Amino acid sequence: MTGKPKVLVIGASGQIGRRVCRGLIQRDVPIRGLSHSPTGAMKIAASGVDDIVWGDLGDPRTLKAAFHGVDHVMQVSRAIREPRQEIHAIEAAQRAGVRRVVKLSSEILYYHWDGLSDQEKATPPDMVAALHGPAEDRILDTGIDSVMLRPTWFMSIDANPLIAAGFTKNQFVWPAGLAGLALVHPDDVAESAVECLVSEHLPPSPLHLTGPKELSSEEIAAGFSTVKDATVVAASPPLHDYEEWLETVAGMPRQAGRIFDPYVTRRHAPVTDDIEQLLHRPARNFTDYLAHDAT
Ligand SMILES: NC(=O)c1ccc[n+]([C@@H]2O[C@H](COP(=O)([O-])OP(=O)(O)OC[C@H]3O[C@@H](n4cnc5c(N)ncnc54)[C@H](OP(=O)(O)O)[C@@H]3O)[C@@H](O)[C@H]2O)c1
Repeated sequence: MTGKPKVLVIGASGQIGRRVCRGLIQRDVPIRGLSHSPTGAMKIAASGVDDIVWGDLGDPRTLKAAFHGVDHVMQVSRAIREPRQEIHAIEAAQRAGVRRVVKLSSEILYYHWDGLSDQEKATPPDMVAALHGPAEDRILDTGIDSVMLRPTWFMSIDANPLIAAGFTKNQFVWPAGLAGLALVHPDDVAESAVECLVSEHLPPSPLHLTGPKELSSEEIAAGFSTVKDATVVAASPPLHDYEEWLETVAGMPRQAGRIFDPYVTRRHAPVTDDIEQLLHRPARNFTDYLAHDAT
């Protein structure tokens, strides 16, 4: 291909999508942002995107125009449990002749998807695998060049729906107890995505994106204490009690706790150098995040 690819950013108004848009604009890459709401469109425009197209991932009939003339796609989705919205986007990309898809997926697939039989995949072990597993498989089935970004938990963990209820009580409730977390900076996730979207040669896939260091629950709680004007305490209930807490306090389905199984059984959070290999610099650390990005 001569010149720069035209990139469609799905999820352009979200946490990672906005950063991806800004990164692509800095590299003079022509982009289009997909929006399904006026508020989302305003956020996309605020990132400097001129070409904003309306489309709802829930309704495949609305997606054709969005993919017209697009070379590469950044795929971000908020849906959990089922992959239908992502599959609508993948099918639209295939019909439009898209040449590369970079998908924001999840580290959970290393534990709850890879190596499963088709029969096991029919009843995925957790709600996040139920979204990303079938979506990754569908992308691979199309034969379109692709990179699956599989980050661990973002450093913005205080805003994660599974964790946020605890923070309202100044608690970091992390049921695993045993394993730490190699939290990854959302800027690094976005910068990795940008590199995968623009690089001439297709990067390896999947990429396991982590921060540079395993952090204990206590370190994470202490870190947030420095920015939240309150002492945040680490709480590590047994998984069963945590599931009870999820349902009664966080208002989430009890089954959401299944995502924690691998973190209970592993003794260490793997730290990878995939970000350093891709971006030729070390991954950003938690201290930087707290100083510049945490709210
Ligand atoms: N948080 C973590 O620690 C973590 C770790 C690993 C992987 N992940 C993965 O990261 C992804 C979430 O990324 P994020 O934090 O950037 O998400 P986010 O901030 O929630 O953004 C989601 C985006 O999807 C758009 N969207 C939602 N429904 C749509 C629809 N029907 N049609 C078109 N667009 C729609 C939203 O638009 P509006 O703003 O207009 O609604 C928004 O732009 C998830 O797939 C999650 O599994 C997260």
